Amino acid sequence: MAESPFEWLRAKSDFPEWDTDLAEQTLLNQHPAPFRPERALQSLVVLQQQFGQVSPPMQTWLASKSGVTVADLRSLVSFYQFLEPTPPPRYHLRFANNIIEQINGVNHLVEQARATLHDADCKVETTSCIGLSDHPIAALINGHPITRLNRSNINELCQLIRAGKSLQEWPRRWFAVDNTIHHPGPLTSYPYARGQGLALATQQGQQWVLNHMDASGLRGLGGAGFPTAVKWRLCAEQADPVKYITCNADEGEPGTFKDRFYLTVQTDQVIEGMAIAAVAVGASKGYLYLRGEYLYLVKHIEAVLQQWRERGQLGAGFDIELQLGAGAYVCGEESAMLESLAGKRGIPTSKPPFPGQKGLFGKPTVVNNVETLVAATYILQQGSSAFRLVGTEHSPGSRLHSVSGDCRRPGLYELPQGAPVQDLLALCGAEDAHCVQSGGPSGALLLRHQFQTPLDFESPGRGGSVMVFNRDRSLWDITRNFTRFFQHESCGFCTPCRAGTVAMNHLLDRYEQPTTARQKAQTRADMIELTQLMQHTSHCGLGKTAGLPVLNFLNQGAGHE
Ligand SMILES: Cc1cc2nc3c(=O)[nH]c(=O)nc-3n(C[C@H](O)[C@H](O)[C@H](O)COP(=O)(O)O)c2cc1C
Ligand code: SF4
Repeated sequence: MAESPFEWLRAKSDFPEWDTDLAEQTLLNQHPAPFRPERALQSLVVLQQQFGQVSPPMQTWLASKSGVTVADLRSLVSFYQFLEPTPPPRYHLRFANNIIEQINGVNHLVEQARATLHDADCKVETTSCIGLSDHPIAALINGHPITRLNRSNINELCQLIRAGKSLQEWPRRWFAVDNTIHHPGPLTSYPYARGQGLALATQQGQQWVLNHMDASGLRGLGGAGFPTAVKWRLCAEQADPVKYITCNADEGEPGTFKDRFYLTVQTDQVIEGMAIAAVAVGASKGYLYLRGEYLYLVKHIEAVLQQWRERGQLGAGFDIELQLGAGAYVCGEESAMLESLAGKRGIPTSKPPFPGQKGLFGKPTVVNNVETLVAATYILQQGSSAFRLVGTEHSPGSRLHSVSGDCRRPGLYELPQGAPVQDLLALCGAEDAHCVQSGGPSGALLLRHQFQTPLDFESPGRGGSVMVFNRDRSLWDITRNFTRFFQHESCGFCTPCRAGTVAMNHLLDRYEQPTTARQKAQTRADMIELTQLMQHTSHCGLGKTAGLPVLNFLNQGAGHE
């Protein structure tokens, strides 16, 4: 059980007054060249942490120092949810309210908090997911996770807020983040030897590493399942001498928390995977893009990174920089993440060119998920044949599944690729499961008679995140939660997604209202047509898949409830 680092815990009234000398010093402590235009977003993030806001005078000051226009800074502040231009309340309570927290009763706690704190200096909000769905109900208080909320202690929490108690005085157990793994496997339990895989990669050289990765058959574990060796080779082949490795630690899919585990417990292996990738493609710089909700992990990751630097183990001329996201789910999409790393709004860009050809700052860039990099380290340390010992021919190896919802043991389970859903359900104690949502909101909805479906890249049940629901759950409620999520997270850049996600929610509401069979059939047809339109015309993966929960509902849910 890891506890949040309490140095980060401060109430918002502890923030200092705006002071340009302090601001400059803070930014310089963070980065030697904080006023370069591409640092604009990170500078705003740091100022937000230091002063609790990024007010218009602060934006004007940063504009004068960095040469970025005030208009551009304002557009960053309006895009990223965690950047706030107004003075902060003393407490900011953000409850996670994805479908898992909802079935665990979060709505009741939110209502109670709102009623009790209506006249307190506290803003009570909800947010889709904070990467803690393995805890029954979780929230962020002033950006820090609070994981032990329930009907009995919510009053106690409200009283602490009303009394203006500093977070330091709150019961520490409330902040404990469990990182229990219920079913370890090869990736999470082998005898890891720090730096051994990287040493081998350096010794054997680029082509050997690429061939070795090819032989392993590793496929990206961030969602798309793209072969890692192909991605690395494309980047390696580019003539440009400047290349980058990026680690996508934006884990924002509702119900997913596996990357949090790796970043906390197997941090060395994430770093080593990035350094191995750097050898494979010839990169000299890496960026780890961490979702803003995982702010509390920054100190830990930085400390581990510093150990690598001090031991001179990162590899010749290679270094890694950690950058923080600021509350935009779309920034998990690789091109949006690269935009965000370059200090811009996280608007996805068109492909081709692919990041391997033209990525961060226009340079060839590898984008890999946290778990993919952990698997790369495993492959270098244990061998590609060892990796292939489990899994299927086309989806070799194993992966961690984040399991949440109606089961006795929510948490993390490492299983070979291709293991059937029913094996996972037996392990997590979900005998009453009626259906599971596998692979996130836009993944597959599998009913009981489909529980033999394998969890691998060839099947609809890809896994990674598995939400379990028993017969008491309304499939309409689940679907509605997902479609609202997509509406909220649409970046608004293209019309099919911006307007389509809104229209889809209206249609879904209409579908549930008492109406004639003919009208219902028409609404159903409209929803299918809209899903297809969004699939074909949206700019990025978010909009393309945002209608899939509705298709799942129509194909699997409606009529089966
Ligand atoms: C809306 C959206 C959100 C995404 N979020 C993440 C994420 O949080 N983490 C991640 O690794 N990949 C995410 N992806 C997939 C990435 O675009 C990309 O495929 C992945 O980072 C590549 O790494 P991999 O090859 O190691 O899987 C997302 C994709 C979309 C369309
Ligand atoms: S599909 Fe949605 S998230 Fe993607 S670019 Fe268009 S509006 Fe933004």
